[in-house]
Amino acid sequence: MSAFPVTRLRRLRRTPALRSLVRETRLDLDDFVMPLFVCPGEGVDRPLEGLAGIAQRSVDRLCDEAELLAGLGVKAVLLFGILESKDEVATGAWDDDGIVQRALRALRGRAPELVLVTDICLCEYTSHGHCGLVRDGEVANDLTLEFLARTAVSHVEAGADVVAPSDMMDGRVAAIRAALDAEGREQVPIIAYSAKYASAFYGPFREAAGSTPAFGDRRSYQMDPPNVREALRECELDLAEGADVIMVKPALPYLDVIAAVRARFDVPVAAYNVSGEYGMVKAAAASGWLDERQAAIECLTAIKRAGADIVISYWTKELAAWL
Ligand code: PBG
Repeated sequence: MSAFPVTRLRRLRRTPALRSLVRETRLDLDDFVMPLFVCPGEGVDRPLEGLAGIAQRSVDRLCDEAELLAGLGVKAVLLFGILESKDEVATGAWDDDGIVQRALRALRGRAPELVLVTDICLCEYTSHGHCGLVRDGEVANDLTLEFLARTAVSHVEAGADVVAPSDMMDGRVAAIRAALDAEGREQVPIIAYSAKYASAFYGPFREAAGSTPAFGDRRSYQMDPPNVREALRECELDLAEGADVIMVKPALPYLDVIAAVRARFDVPVAAYNVSGEYGMVKAAAASGWLDERQAAIECLTAIKRAGADIVISYWTKELAAWL
C-alpha cells in the first residue's frame, strides 16, 4: 500500500455524497426495538421522571402509541409492566390477567404488524424487587425457573411474538423453551439477555419501574462488569439451551463485549442501549452541552459498528423521524 502523498484518505471525505458512498455502517429502523411501559388504569400517559421523553401508559394509551409507532415505521416493541401491588411470588408477572398480558391482547388487535417482544423477569413484580424468588435471603435460582417459564407461556398465550428473559438465572432459557414447546409454541423465538451486567446504567429504568432491590443488589446473578470471557460462556450456554438471539446489555460501555460476541457466534446479536446511556445524553442535551440528535446517532452507530444486529433503544421513536 502506498503512503502519502499518493494516498490521501481525505479524498473520500470531501463531500457528503462521497462520505455516504464509502460509509461502512448505516442505521436502519428495521433493526430497532422501542421499549414501552404499561401500567394499570385508563387514560394514563405519565412521563417517567429520569427517562425524558418516555412515558408509562395504560393499555388504551399504549395502543394509541403502538399504532403511532407502527405508522412511523417502527417494527418492534419491548413491553415492560409497571405495577403497584407486588408480592413475594411475583403474581403480577405470570397472572393471565396481568398488566402485560392485558396489554398484549389489546395490542394484538390494534397493531397486528408490530413484533411484540416481552421482557421476562420478576423484578417489576416482586415486593423485594429482585429478579427471582428469595429464600433464606438469597435469590433462589431453580425455584425461580418455573415462575419465569410460567410468565413466558402466559405472555405468549396473550399474544407475544418473542420472549426476552432478562433475569440472569442459570438455566432459564432451557426452562422457557421447554415450557413453550410443551404448549405447542415451538415457533416462538427467545431473545436471551445473555451477557447482562450488574450495571449502574439501569438507574433511570429502576426508578421508572420501581424495581430497585429492597435489600442487597443484583451482583449475585448479573455479570461482573470486568469480565468478557464469561460473557462468551453465557452466550454459549444460552445458545445450547435454545436461545435464538443473544444480547449484550448495557451497550455503550460494553462495545468490546458486543464485538467479541459478534466474532464468536454466527447468530443474531442484540444490544440494549439502556436507560442510563440514553439519560446521560438527554441530560447533557437539556443543558445545552451537546446536540442530542448527533450524539444519539453517533451512539447508535457505534453499537451497530461493534456488531449488533438488533438494537433496543429509547431513541427508536425519535430515530424514526431522524432517518
Ligand atoms: C429487568 C430489566 C432491567 C432493565 C431491563 N430489564 C433492570 C435491571 O436489571 O435492573 C434495564 C433497562 C434499562 O436500564 O433501560 N427486568
